Amino acid sequence: MKSQIMKLKPYQPGKSPEQIKKEFNVDKVIKLASNENPYGCSPKVEAVVQNLIKHSASYPDGNAEALRQAVSQHLNVKWNQLLFGSGLDEVIQIISRTMLCIGDNIVTAALTFPQYKHHAVIEGSEVREVPLVDGCYDLNAMAQAIDPNTKLIWICNPNNPTGTYTNEEALLEFLQKVPKETLVIVDEAYYEYVNASDYPQTLKLLNEYENLLVLRTFSKAYGLAAFRIGYAVGNESLVERFNIARLPFNTSSFAQAAAIAALGDEAFLDSCIEENRQGLQQYEEFLQKIDFEFYPSQANFIFIKTTKPMECFEILIQKGFIVRPFPNGIRITIGTKEQNEEVLSILSNHLLEKIGEDK
Ligand SMILES: Cc1ncc(COP(=O)(O)O)c(C=O)c1O
Repeated sequence: MKSQIMKLKPYQPGKSPEQIKKEFNVDKVIKLASNENPYGCSPKVEAVVQNLIKHSASYPDGNAEALRQAVSQHLNVKWNQLLFGSGLDEVIQIISRTMLCIGDNIVTAALTFPQYKHHAVIEGSEVREVPLVDGCYDLNAMAQAIDPNTKLIWICNPNNPTGTYTNEEALLEFLQKVPKETLVIVDEAYYEYVNASDYPQTLKLLNEYENLLVLRTFSKAYGLAAFRIGYAVGNESLVERFNIARLPFNTSSFAQAAAIAALGDEAFLDSCIEENRQGLQQYEEFLQKIDFEFYPSQANFIFIKTTKPMECFEILIQKGFIVRPFPNGIRITIGTKEQNEEVLSILSNHLLEKIGEDK
């Protein structure tokens, strides 16, 4: 066995809603810990998925041709610039598996999405984690961490878990410093939620920077997390290499059809984005009012800074709300208006007295 496997732990799913109901004696459990879409997915998805059940005995289209065409049209990129995976989780695995050897290194941030590191460790590569500054990627320090063995640079934009973003100017300045042989991957899992005017439009940079790769997913704003479908967009010859490392039938026919249907329902997407924007505003206004620190978010979650994250977690879980604790705060997925109101009222009733004392 690879010795580095001994350094890692399997992904720990949280307690199930049933366990939480029993343990805390609550009737309902609302999961606000994985940045899922509280409005589900487009109603158009259901019909296409139902219709596919009669083809369950057949393997899916390994090249996801219909989805490939839909996404390439949607993004205005070539069909062979796309790599599909069973969620971005698998895309991250495929990239790491293709690119990394023992002795290589990756450069990324801490805190950020943990799968970049996880797969680098499995491949026996060194992980260079550059601390965030005020919840944001420090691209100057990251540029200094690059050496000839740096194969991958992971930039999560907006960043999970802080929700902050890297702007166009900072990204362009950084790209100019990165050697051509080093791949820069910008993970835009929360792209659809962003409304900052200086957020980089990375697809337009792909022609100029052949070492740039952009990741997007259907799990978040499109509400298809259960189907597991995400993709990378990049240089054709690079994408061809990644296709060698992926499994022949890595995305299901259900996921492919669901993604096509979801892409075709812009009205649903727009309404989710608007609800999220209002929810974020609801949180930000409230937190400002009670003088609690948070990072300004461009995503569908908010990171509240506290020195007592586990206490916050416990207070909320006792009322049936699951959030995600981190060493210096909690991350809460923006829910429906009613869910947000309930969380905020729990925070104002309990958090202020219990957690606020150390402020
Ligand atoms: C930044 C980021 N990248 C990738 C993923 C994985 O997404 P998927 O559901 O497409 O595997 C997530 C999921 O939370 C994420 O936050």
